[in-house]
Amino acid sequence: MTSALIDRLRSDLSTANFSVSALTGLWGIDADAALHRNQRVPALRALAGLRARLGHTEPCATLACLFVLGLPVDRADLDAALPALGAAGAEELGLVAAGASVEPDAGNAVRPLLELRPYSFVDAHGAGSWWIASDLGELALGHPLGESHVLGVGGASLTLSGLLMPTSVSSALDLGTGCGIQAMHASRHADRVVATDISARALDFAALNAELNEIGNIEFRRGSLFEPVAGERFDHIISNPPFVITPRVPGIPSYEYRDGGLVGDALVEAVVRGAVGHLTHGGVAQLLGNWEYRTDQDAFDRLAGWLDTPAASALPLDAWIVEREVQSPALYAETWIRDGGTRPGTADFDRLYDAWLDDFGARGVSQVGFGYMLLRRPAADTRAWRRLERQPGGLGHNPGGLGSHLAACLAAHDGQASTDDAHLARARLVVASDVTEERHYWPGQEDPTLMTLHQGSGFGRSISLDTGLAALVGASDGELDVGSIVAALAQLLDVDEHALAAELFPRVRELLDDGFLQHPLG
Ligand SMILES: C[S@@+](CC[C@H](N)C(=O)[O-])C[C@H]1O[C@@H](n2cnc3c(N)ncnc32)[C@H](O)[C@@H]1O
Repeated sequence: MTSALIDRLRSDLSTANFSVSALTGLWGIDADAALHRNQRVPALRALAGLRARLGHTEPCATLACLFVLGLPVDRADLDAALPALGAAGAEELGLVAAGASVEPDAGNAVRPLLELRPYSFVDAHGAGSWWIASDLGELALGHPLGESHVLGVGGASLTLSGLLMPTSVSSALDLGTGCGIQAMHASRHADRVVATDISARALDFAALNAELNEIGNIEFRRGSLFEPVAGERFDHIISNPPFVITPRVPGIPSYEYRDGGLVGDALVEAVVRGAVGHLTHGGVAQLLGNWEYRTDQDAFDRLAGWLDTPAASALPLDAWIVEREVQSPALYAETWIRDGGTRPGTADFDRLYDAWLDDFGARGVSQVGFGYMLLRRPAADTRAWRRLERQPGGLGHNPGGLGSHLAACLAAHDGQASTDDAHLARARLVVASDVTEERHYWPGQEDPTLMTLHQGSGFGRSISLDTGLAALVGASDGELDVGSIVAALAQLLDVDEHALAAELFPRVRELLDDGFLQHPLG
């Protein structure tokens, strides 16, 4: 019965063209931007103007008002907007309830019980669009979120989905699936996906979203952390875990969607430590996380500690961790207290602020880092690879997300790491197509004072070059091998060839790792 109703809902949403671009068309980009700031007045004014001009409400506008802006609509309008499902079917599915006042006919109003938003994306497999149901937000509720709130697609969700490596795999796990967004993305490159959550309500939303969008290869399981997948291994583990650091004292709301109930960053540590036992050989885990800097220990040393003491008999994981941002305890506290809907300037805000600072103070936390973690179970006999780096600020231009870049960098790293210098000398490398070189000169001088390589996509890295490396990169067009270029440069610069090779080869390896140079044969 429910499936039949969901089929009707899908058909109605499609007929109404309930899409991201249609909504922007209805209310314009300024109203879109205002909605991102949690302000619906510009969108409401645009919808009212449209209704006045047309003399009726478009189906897409009715759906937007109800499910995106979170306001009641007239039952007759909803019947018109959902001709196959009808308002009665929407009630049966639990999307709306009768009631709430909408003028002039308050008795015939229906109000939303959840958010249902169109969502569009581009990934390595192309463009796509879905509808995503989640709990009503603060705007519709008119009060702070409940502790069991199920979040829709937020900023962190988009960050992680953009990072997902699109490599085809047979199995994927989405730990803490929430509304199911990462599992749905994973369903595009994994034959089967297991999506877990501690929240039954989240799993209901995720299952609805999968069915509504005709995604049939996700299995949903309830439980904490890795409990629901005990004894199982996956090629790709994905998690936007509830990483928000929260004081553990009475009177502090504990939001299931963002807070795993542990002290400090212990929840992220548990996911990292647990991953090793659930990855297949060569399997990759991609996570978001927060980590604490403590007065006595740099966060990267703590992260290295989590990685270096895996479960008995397991090899340590390869790890590439990119810290994108650090916040002071005060800024962190303000951010997450506001996120929970408590307004600054209130007694409650100050009480929570104190609790957060006490909690950080108890562990000597000086800063909190945020970033991306990519962990890989190495092939049996290789030494673990570690890359922990700080990359604050903007990224390059990555229309399909960073995932393809990460996959290419991993493959390039594996290629160069398994190649000795004698083999590397025979490689004919090329400069990646997104790389540009910038040179600065003192006026009147022939030689540049500064040379920098810029990467247009990926992490948008910039690195400075000395004369030798600049010449090597400039000559890397696939014609000459690295060894011949180094030999020619040694002659030109009148330096010892072996010494130059010893200086340049490690740099070449770094440029391969970062995607500035490529081996045309992979
Ligand atoms: C930040 S949300 C991520 C939701 C979704 N994956 C996304 O990317 O938008 C974290 C999710 O983890 C779930 N969760 C909280 N504690 C958990 C636990 N101990 N084990 C598994 N999931 C948990 C929450 O219910 C929530 O759905």
